[in-house]
Amino acid sequence: METRLLNFNNNDLSIAGELIRKGELVAFPTETVYGLGANALDEQAVKKTYNVKGRPHDNPEIVHVWSKEQIFEITKNVSDDAKRIIDFFLPGSVTIVLQKNDVISDCVTAGLKTVAIRIPKSKQALEFLKYCAVPISAPSANSSTRPSPTRWQDVLEDMNGKIPAILCGDDCDVGIESTVLDMSGSEPIILRPGVITQSQIEAVLQKSVRVLTNTNEKVNSPGVKYKHYAPNCLMALNLDGDREKVLNFYNSCKQKGYNPIILSQNEKDFGSCNFCHLGKDTNQVGKNVFSILRKLEKTYDYIICSFVPCDEYGQSIVNRLTKSASGNIF
Ligand code: TXA
Ligand code: MG
Repeated sequence: METRLLNFNNNDLSIAGELIRKGELVAFPTETVYGLGANALDEQAVKKTYNVKGRPHDNPEIVHVWSKEQIFEITKNVSDDAKRIIDFFLPGSVTIVLQKNDVISDCVTAGLKTVAIRIPKSKQALEFLKYCAVPISAPSANSSTRPSPTRWQDVLEDMNGKIPAILCGDDCDVGIESTVLDMSGSEPIILRPGVITQSQIEAVLQKSVRVLTNTNEKVNSPGVKYKHYAPNCLMALNLDGDREKVLNFYNSCKQKGYNPIILSQNEKDFGSCNFCHLGKDTNQVGKNVFSILRKLEKTYDYIICSFVPCDEYGQSIVNRLTKSASGNIF
């Protein structure tokens, strides 16, 4: 199949909307990462997203809508706390898990009684959703296990020939996926950290909010248990900023015959080593991280990332980097 590259004009947006309503897939930008969109009301279309990505069938998808009213059309028993979160953060980079009603099929939610919903902040995403005129089920538009796509070129790399169209918008501003917040039960739980942080959520709810950390605990968000975000080369992660340790690791990689590169915020620490700059502050690091991994894997065979988080959002980025490195922390 030929993958068409569509732009943000009325003609191309109409084509994208028609494809979606015909049961086809269209990749589209959001402020977090690119999504692989299907009509959430069309089970056959949603199934295609799993097949194209190679996504495990027990990993539910997020439903994307463009208005708050739509949230109440597909859910039930929405608590006052959940309403507060909706009012305060949406549109925005947080996904809210709520009890679902019968409108959304089991294929979207992998059989769960809850549904994850998001109203993206990106104007381009909202425009696309309105042209579709149906709720859109969308996982990130990467092949399963690969770093999430934050530029349309990254989507093309994974999806060329597999989907009919990519809506080519801006590079994603945030660069890591939305915070997933479970508001379906008696206690709010952050299932996946993101740019909207625990303390921001606690400030709105005026109560403490748990973060799901131990993956051995009953897994509420099936997605957290799979391999994720990994480049096509080896990767190791240092989180204490110990320059000597990083240099030693680099040198031992070289001795073993690898072609390594150091990825860090501190260029001056690593003199003559192969070096890539990760970004000057946490926002830049978030925006850059996945596209950098996709770039470096093409030239190097060992990425040595040194990142010292200096704030809560930095911890969310560590969550992604740890998975990219398959837990290989030194
Ligand atoms: O920023 C984002 O969230 C992007 C953009 C495209 O919106 N989407 C995204 O989708 O990251 P995906 O499929 O890569 O990740 C969805 C996450 C998974 O960890 C999944 O397990 C969780 O949301 N999830 C979906 N439905 C859920 C539910 N009903 N209960 C708990 N977790 C759920
Ligand atoms: Mg994903």
